[in-house]
Amino acid sequence: ASTLAAAAQQSGRYFGTAVAANKLSDSTYVGILNREFDMVTAENEMKMDATEPNQGQFSYGNADRIVNHARNQGKRVRGHALAWHSQQPGWMQNMSGAALRNAMLNHVTQVASYYRGKIYAWDVVNEAFADGSSGGRRDSNLQRTGNDWIEAAFRAARAADPGAKLCYNDYNTDNWSHAKTQGVYRMVQDFKSRGVPIDCVGFQAHFNSGNPVPSNYHTTLQNFANLGVDVQITELDIEGSGSSQAQQYQGVTQACLAVSRCTGITVWGIRDSDSWRASGTPLLFDGNGNKKAAYTSVLNVLNGG
Ligand code: G3I
Repeated sequence: ASTLAAAAQQSGRYFGTAVAANKLSDSTYVGILNREFDMVTAENEMKMDATEPNQGQFSYGNADRIVNHARNQGKRVRGHALAWHSQQPGWMQNMSGAALRNAMLNHVTQVASYYRGKIYAWDVVNEAFADGSSGGRRDSNLQRTGNDWIEAAFRAARAADPGAKLCYNDYNTDNWSHAKTQGVYRMVQDFKSRGVPIDCVGFQAHFNSGNPVPSNYHTTLQNFANLGVDVQITELDIEGSGSSQAQQYQGVTQACLAVSRCTGITVWGIRDSDSWRASGTPLLFDGNGNKKAAYTSVLNVLNGG
């Protein structure tokens, strides 16, 4: 197959990208989006600050632009993200206790209900574990409402959209030996054992020289899948260039293909110039929209080569 999406479909997987609403008027960008990808994640437009800028007043204009473009083009949508310590609207940032818990649950319910039937998978909770060696939860206003806030969010999301897969999504959870990876694993294990509705785990996969693709990546994905959840690579980008970058993209793609429950890969932007990283060249297309060596290596792996 000659596109990322068509090549991924050969093994029943998808290949997605993050999309920014303000780039949907850029014809080079939209041309690559329409041709290469069959899954779309809103880069910022479905976050809490975007969708509920004032408490109880929901705003879906930019998110709808992305969702409608994707669906009109026959692409599916990953929802990102219902509950997160970051990108909270100002009114929520200084809330606490029962008022915050109820506001969070209402947000989850309202947004997931609004998009009911249109979302393949929701990142229900994003980045709730601490960096470093503790393996525990990240401190945040949401965490301080009680350790059960994550399962409460998942239950609210399931009730609002029973057809969407519900994911926990985080970064630096790629290396099996890291405490953060183990902490997330134990939470998913606990959720599965107690019947908390969780269907998938998203691995953001933002790699750079300080956080390279680990040699045990396949082990990590397989161990999570063995808990009875799908795994997805949700925000892939890899700093670097040329053949070294291409080899790392190849390794990530091979790791997903080696795990039957790894259902797809999403890159976090289209061209290098679209990346959230202020500098660098972490994506599959250069600033002019030309395919890079990394693109070719991913396509070859998806094609079974
Ligand atoms: O739109 C405003 C613009 O009006 C304003 O002039 C400008 C000045 O700062 O800011 C613009 O908003 C920025 C927005 O990106 C759109 O470009 C925000 O400041 C900036 O904070 C925001 O950054 C986003 C970041 O999440 C926020 O947390 C990045 O685009 C987005 O790629 C990044 O994505 C995250 C995932 O959601 C979660 N995982 C990590 C990943 C990378 O950080």
